[in-house]
Amino acid sequence: MKKIMIIGATSAIAESCATLWAKEGCIFFLVGRSQVKIDQLTKKLIIQGAIAVSGFILDINDFEKHQKALDTASDFLGSIDIVLIAHGNLPDQKRCTQSVDLTLREISTNALSTVSFLTITCKYMKNQQKGTISLLSSVAGDRGRGTNYIYGSAKGMLNIFCEGMRQELNGYGVKIVTIKLGFVNTPMTLKFKKGILWRKPQDISKTIITIINHGNGEYYVPGFWRAIMWVIKIIPNFIFYRIKI
Ligand SMILES: NC(=O)c1ccc[n+]([C@@H]2O[C@H](COP(=O)([O-])OP(=O)(O)OC[C@H]3O[C@@H](n4cnc5c(N)ncnc54)[C@H](OP(=O)(O)O)[C@@H]3O)[C@@H](O)[C@H]2O)c1
Repeated sequence: MKKIMIIGATSAIAESCATLWAKEGCIFFLVGRSQVKIDQLTKKLIIQGAIAVSGFILDINDFEKHQKALDTASDFLGSIDIVLIAHGNLPDQKRCTQSVDLTLREISTNALSTVSFLTITCKYMKNQQKGTISLLSSVAGDRGRGTNYIYGSAKGMLNIFCEGMRQELNGYGVKIVTIKLGFVNTPMTLKFKKGILWRKPQDISKTIITIINHGNGEYYVPGFWRAIMWVIKIIPNFIFYRIKI
């Protein structure tokens, strides 16, 4: 019976993963900013087979409450097998370029808040000498693009942060899983025109769970994004700066 803490639990992708986990009979500690959504998800997971579910209401930029969230999760779960960090926000890149405040807020939501949770959960897992910390990151972190480099740089920072943590924790029995997602049809990407590269949360949640169960490293989901990003990364700068992707 897995004991799982999900930060950003109301994310469509996290919810899809949680629904699959619930069928295995897991115990959940859900962190999210909306009491109504957390209550709805709690009911759904219990119906799907979760053994027990508790929630914690937190705006992710309220850093002072992060440790309290983890301590409450630890009290409820006893020990933690899996932490899934799933919150995020797609910034309005154009508006951000006009506002330092907005840019810093987006970096805080997408990177610094996660750095805070990575740091405290890393310390916790190191002490218990077991467990997996998993992060929903993005292919956007692989190369800065004019249309989304605020979001991309936040994700890129997290990818390197996790890589360093993975090396630091080698030998402690703790795994760090970075999931680099491609395009997924969720509330975050509502305004985008969808095409052949797009997936629904239900198409990828089983793969994410398998990776969290067995992996320790960086993974592209779906896997074909590894090839796409390899091509994007090797485009020489003198060409890359002239194209719009
Ligand atoms: N969808 C994609 O194409 C895609 C691609 C690459 C990576 N990702 C990453 O995947 C993760 C999940 O995203 P998703 O696609 O599932 O989007 P989503 O359904 O819109 O979920 C975003 C989540 O972040 C939470 N959140 C945003 N700002 C918050 C704040 N200030 N405090 C607390 N919670 C906050 C939202 O809470 P509410 O429910 O209360 O709004 C929601 O739970 C994100 O980290 C995203 O960057 C997504």
